[in-house]
Amino acid sequence: MYNAFFGFKESPFNLSPDPSFLYRSPQHEEALANLIYGVQSRKGFIVLTGEVGTGKTTMLQCLRDFLESQRIEFAFLFNSRVTVDQFFEMIAYDLNLRCQRASKTEVLFALNNLLIQQANSGRTTALIVDEAHNLSWEVLEEIRLLGNLETRHGKLLQIVLAGQPELDRKLDAPDMRQLKQRIVLRCHLCPLEESEAIEYIVTRMNRAGMPNQTVFPADLLSEIYLRSQGIPRLINAICDNLLLNCFALEQRVATLEVLDEVCADMRLEWPGRRPQLPHRVLTDDQYRQSPYYGRGN
Ligand SMILES: Nc1ncnc2c1ncn2[C@@H]1O[C@H](COP(=O)(O)OP(=O)(O)OP(=O)(O)O)[C@@H](O)[C@H]1O
Ligand SMILES: [Mg+2]
Repeated sequence: MYNAFFGFKESPFNLSPDPSFLYRSPQHEEALANLIYGVQSRKGFIVLTGEVGTGKTTMLQCLRDFLESQRIEFAFLFNSRVTVDQFFEMIAYDLNLRCQRASKTEVLFALNNLLIQQANSGRTTALIVDEAHNLSWEVLEEIRLLGNLETRHGKLLQIVLAGQPELDRKLDAPDMRQLKQRIVLRCHLCPLEESEAIEYIVTRMNRAGMPNQTVFPADLLSEIYLRSQGIPRLINAICDNLLLNCFALEQRVATLEVLDEVCADMRLEWPGRRPQLPHRVLTDDQYRQSPYYGRGN
């Protein structure tokens, strides 16, 4: 909506995990390198964890692009709340297995054939599961068994599990000992540091068609970092709303007042947040004299 007003070719702060907008922070770079290395070198199990909105699905989409570019076959499960039967049906569908897809036995048979065929021609196959913290114990057990398929040269199926930190706790359960032992690579995504968060914003705006962005002054960028806690999805939501409000006000530069309004609309909480009276932000003097002063620090 505001793209023409600011001169963007595309929306800079879309909420979709689009690899073409990738910001390569050192940890994102490392995670992607690990995912690619893990699959290519047939390591078996790879686990990617991270708090909500830190970029796990984005990393998987980048991995997917890489696998497609290398013509490596893969199945990508983005819905992890599935039964065992649905799990095998989805694998069969993604890998285009010619078999009775509703039959687990037939899928396993066809999958085994495909994996051996691929391995014989020097190729590997991958299974990627997003939101893996939601997997049922039964499906996790099936995944563990799939991870057992191997030849003397390495694992036949490379399995990437991505999920929120609960995934780690799930894998710590006594029943999961065997699967846990097979995990050879782990990566974890943390929120961005302040300098990274600022670079992230600038990079996205540049990619969308505004080199040397002029909409967010330096102190406002720091404030966006503080309020978003360095979580990319929150940064996107804040910046998108800021741009929208500025457009509505025909303002080419964002201000703290607009940011306050955006954060109030988003019901955003952050450490040290100054409490607000309904419909009114306190001035500095009012705040110091209010009963809120000193709280939340
Ligand atoms: N390194 C990055 N470069 C560019 N955009 C990113 C990056 N990391 C995250 N984002 C953006 O942040 C938003 C959230 O990312 P993503 O959906 O990948 O997070 P997630 O960790 O999968 O979240 P959830 O736990 O809710 O599944 C998306 O809009 C995505 O484009
Ligand atoms: Mg995700």
